[in-house]
Amino acid sequence: MSTDEFPTDRPAVVTCGLPYANGDLHIGHLRGYIGADAFNRSLETLGQETAYVCGSDMHGTPVAVNAEQQGVDPADFALDWHEQYKETFPKFNVDFDNYGHTHDETNTELTQEIVRKLDEAGYIYEKEIQVAYDPDADQYLPDRYVEGTCPYCGAKARGDECDEGCQRHLEPGEVENPESTITGNPAEYRQRAHKFFEVSAFEEYLTEFLDGLEGTSNARNQPRQWIEDGLQDWCITRDMDWGIDYPDAEDAGADGDDLVLYVWVDAPIEYIASTKQYSERVGTDEYDWEQVWKDEGEIVHIIGRDIIQHHAIFWPAMLEGSGYNAPRGIAATGFITINGKGLSTSRNRAIWAKEYLEEGFHPDLLRYYLTTTGGLQQDVDFSWEAFQEKVNGELVGTVGNFWYRSLLFAYRNYEGTPEADVSEEVGERIEGAIGETREAVNDYDLRGVGRAATRLAQFGNEYIQRNEPWKLTDEEPEKAAQVIRDCVQLAKAVGILIEPITPDKSQLLWEQIGEDGEVADAHLEDALEAPPRSFDEPGELFAKIEDDRVEELTAKLEERVEAASDDEAESDDETETDDTDAGESGDMTDTGDLEPLLEDRIGFEDFQELDIRVGRIESAEGIDGADDLAKLEVDIGFETRQVVAGIKQLHDLEELPGTNCVLLANMEPAKLFGVESNGMILAAGEEADLLTTHDDAEIGEKIK
Ligand code: 2FM
Ligand code: ZN
Repeated sequence: MSTDEFPTDRPAVVTCGLPYANGDLHIGHLRGYIGADAFNRSLETLGQETAYVCGSDMHGTPVAVNAEQQGVDPADFALDWHEQYKETFPKFNVDFDNYGHTHDETNTELTQEIVRKLDEAGYIYEKEIQVAYDPDADQYLPDRYVEGTCPYCGAKARGDECDEGCQRHLEPGEVENPESTITGNPAEYRQRAHKFFEVSAFEEYLTEFLDGLEGTSNARNQPRQWIEDGLQDWCITRDMDWGIDYPDAEDAGADGDDLVLYVWVDAPIEYIASTKQYSERVGTDEYDWEQVWKDEGEIVHIIGRDIIQHHAIFWPAMLEGSGYNAPRGIAATGFITINGKGLSTSRNRAIWAKEYLEEGFHPDLLRYYLTTTGGLQQDVDFSWEAFQEKVNGELVGTVGNFWYRSLLFAYRNYEGTPEADVSEEVGERIEGAIGETREAVNDYDLRGVGRAATRLAQFGNEYIQRNEPWKLTDEEPEKAAQVIRDCVQLAKAVGILIEPITPDKSQLLWEQIGEDGEVADAHLEDALEAPPRSFDEPGELFAKIEDDRVEELTAKLEERVEAASDDEAESDDETETDDTDAGESGDMTDTGDLEPLLEDRIGFEDFQELDIRVGRIESAEGIDGADDLAKLEVDIGFETRQVVAGIKQLHDLEELPGTNCVLLANMEPAKLFGVESNGMILAAGEEADLLTTHDDAEIGEKIK
C-alpha cells in the first residue's frame, strides 16, 4: 500500500460492493456504482492507470431465500439477475472494465485457493458451535433463515447482521430468541462443527493497516472501535447447498463435506477474480492483475457503510493471511433517503433504475445529482424537486449556459476558436481548477471534483458577462477575440473536469468544439491545450426540467408508496413482510419513516464549529410564489438577521413575532426564491415545527 499521491506509477483497481443478484436495481445501488465509476474516471483524468471491476454476488441466503420464494433454482435465479445488471449498468455510463460473478470458475477456483492458503498458514480451525435449526423443516437455519434479537443492541436482527440496529455482523448462534423464517416457529440450537478464520490473530496487523488506510473516516474509525472491543474469530462455513464448496471437502474434517463457504468469503474475492478476468482479456502487458494484487498496486474499495466490518476487518485479514496486498483506500457511502424518508423497497419508496430511464431522463443528470450531493461519504436525500433544482440551477444554468453561449458566440463570429493565446488570468484560473481537482481526488472527495468544474463554469459566465464581448466586436475586435478565445478554452476545461461525472455530455461538448477521439482519454493538463481552430454550430446540451413534470413525478411516487403501504398493511396479518434487500450494499436498512442515525460520530470541537444562537423573531411575512417559505427578521443580540425558513405550513405568521427560535448563525448565506437568507432556523418534522427555548436563555446566547 503506497501513500504517494495519485497518480502513481503503479496500477490501481477500483471496486464497488457487489450487488446481490436478487432484485431490481434502484437509486441506492446506483449511488455506489456511479460514485465508484466517477472516482475511477477521476483517477484516469489524473493519468493514473486503473481498472474498475465488479460482479454480481450470487451466493448466500439473500439469493437463496428469494429464489426459494419464487420456487426457482438459485443458480438460474441469480444468473438471470446478473444478466439484467450487466445490461443496466452501462445505461448509467457505469463503465466496468470487467463485470463477472461469484459463481463463475475464476472466482470459485480463486476462493478455494485462498481458503487453502489460509488453512495451510494455520489460520483456519474447526469448532463445535450452536447453530439454529428448524425441526419442522428439518434443516439448519443459516443467516437469513433465522431472525431474532440482536445480543448487542436488542434490535430485531437477521441471523448474520443487525441491519435495523447497530449494524454489527452476527455470528451463527448469536441471535437471541431465534425464529425460523421458513415456518415462523421458534428455532432450536444444535451443536455442529464449523470452520473458523482466526481474525483475532491479525489484531496488530489490522491496527497498523487502519492507521495507513485512506478513504472516508468512517472506514477507519468504526473498525478501530471493534478492534478495541476485542476481535472475534469468524465462522466461514454454512450448512447450505448453494455456495462454493469448502475446498478439499473430504480432507476438511469431521463435518467438512457438506459445508459451503459463507458468502462473505467468496464475495470480496470476486474483486480479485474480476481483475484477473480483465487482465486475461486485455493481456497482462496492458494490465497485470498480479501486479496490483500481489506486487505493488493501489486497491480502492467503494462500499456501503453497512459493510465496513467486512471490508476493513475480515477482508484485509484474509488478504494478509493469504499473501495478497492490502487496500490503499476504502470509501464508505452514506444512506439514501427519498423525500426525507428511509428508502424502502417493500414500501416502493425508491427510484428504480428502470423507472428513471423510462421517464426519459439522461443518466448524466442523476450521476451529477448523486455525486455532487453525496460525494462518496455523505447521505443523499432524493426528491424530484431537489433533482430539478440541481439540474436547472447548476447543469442548465451554470455549465450548459456557459458552454452554449460561449460556443455559439465563437461560432457566429469566428466560425470556431479565435486565433489568440489564452490570457494569463484564464490560464491561471484553469490551472487552479486542475489543482483543486487533483486535491479532491486524492481526498476521495467527489463533491470537490464536481465543485471544481462548476466553479470554473461559473467563473466563465462571470468572465463573459464582465467583458461583454458583444460590445467589443466592432470597436475592439482583438479584445473580443481574446475574450472568446478564453471562453472556448474554459469550455473545454470544464468539459474535461466534469467528464468523470457527466461523461456523455462532456463527450458531446468535446465534439462540439471539434476535438477528435474521446474526452475520457484526456488528462487534466489537456485542459490547457488549445482547442481546434474551427467547429460547427453548437446545440444546447442540457434542458430545463419543467415544474409540471416534477409535480407529476412526485405525485406518482406518493401514490405508489401509499398503495404499497396499503398492500403491506393487508399482508402483515398473513405473513412477515419481505423487505429482502434491506441491509445490502447501497440499499440501507428500512427504518420506516425515520431517517437513519448517522454512525459517524463528531468530536466536541466539530460541534463547536456550529454557531447556534438563541434568536427572537421580530417579523414574519410570506414570499411570493413560495407556498411554505417565510421571510423572517431575527434578532440574535448582535444584529438582526434576515432568514428564509420553510415554516408556513404549521405556523401562523402573524403569531410568530416575539417567539424565540434557534438559529444556525454561521450557515453560508443563500438565496431562496430570490430572497437572501442569512442563517438557518432549526425546526423538526414534516411540517417544520419550530425549535424554541423556554426559560432564561438570553437572545444571542450560544447553544452548547
Ligand atoms: O451487502 C451486499 O450487498 C453484498 N452483496 C456486498 C458484497 S461486497 C463484497 F465483498 F464483494
Ligand atoms: Zn445490534
